[in-house]
Amino acid sequence: MAERPSGVKKNEARTSPVRFRHKHLLAISDLDRFEIESLLARAEAFAPLAEQKIKKLDTLRGRTLINLFFENSTRTQSSFELAGKRMGADVVNMSVKSSSVAKGETLIDTATTLNAMRPDLLVIRHGASGAAELLSQKVDCAVINAGDGKHEHPTQALLDALTIRDRLGAIEGLVIAICGDILHSRVARSNVALLTMLGARVRLVGPPTLMPAGADRWGAKVFHDMRQGIKDADVVMMLRVQRERMDGGFFPSAREFFWFYGLDEDKLKFAKPGAVVMHPGPMNRGVEIDSGVADNPNISLIETQVRMGVAVRMAVLEALAESGSNAGAR
Ligand code: CP
Repeated sequence: MAERPSGVKKNEARTSPVRFRHKHLLAISDLDRFEIESLLARAEAFAPLAEQKIKKLDTLRGRTLINLFFENSTRTQSSFELAGKRMGADVVNMSVKSSSVAKGETLIDTATTLNAMRPDLLVIRHGASGAAELLSQKVDCAVINAGDGKHEHPTQALLDALTIRDRLGAIEGLVIAICGDILHSRVARSNVALLTMLGARVRLVGPPTLMPAGADRWGAKVFHDMRQGIKDADVVMMLRVQRERMDGGFFPSAREFFWFYGLDEDKLKFAKPGAVVMHPGPMNRGVEIDSGVADNPNISLIETQVRMGVAVRMAVLEALAESGSNAGAR
């Protein structure tokens, strides 16, 4: 368990950096409730910075952050870049397509090469589950998992939690339905771990073909009927159908998927009145979500999720930069 530093009051974390016992951020399942709440409180303090004319701090001045994305990204990569720059770090975005990876260089060789340049923080996204952990064993700096295969996407879950808190005040006791392609989703795995830790009642909703074996043991209730699954939910979190990870056979057609599992205004009527809708992006409009729901500012938190992504990543970068200078951090 992370110790609450003696003498630190509940909200004091808002104004001081998170004291993190970890060297890396690889998975939500490595964190405890106090660490998560401290990161969220710190991110909450950073969020208003985006509305200011001068958005820059010098907390990470002199530190180097490398973004190493082996899979495509719009939101995560750009928000880590912005977060690093707003904290004053020097940020390098490695373009994997034009790097020596395209010539066959391995992940490990790429990592040791970058390590020789002495970065302080390395953000990695990779298609293989466990890639971030493997990298963390090969480099000296802090490693942040920006999504590894079907495993975890911890900063996505943190920004989702911050978004829910921003709109609904608290997470404890909420009914949160995570819907769609659970099988391929690292977002679902990280969110179930985080939201259940914060006291939400989490449901997983999707067709049997897109529900991982053993999902009922994750701490969430499994539903295969969309209307039953979102009934009286406070939050309906839709997931992207990850067609690039499918080789056919998971569902007959996009049209049929939308008929049974796509969120539209009719299905949303089954959720609690005032329920909010989330999606990590990028969206497949007309497959898992209808534009009438996604673009309705009264119910859709999708833009807020993107905004909170920068604040959460600032809090994470700061915490890891701090912990990197603590002897004994793992
Ligand atoms: N939510 C998410 O990870 O989006 P990107 O793939 O655009 O980074």
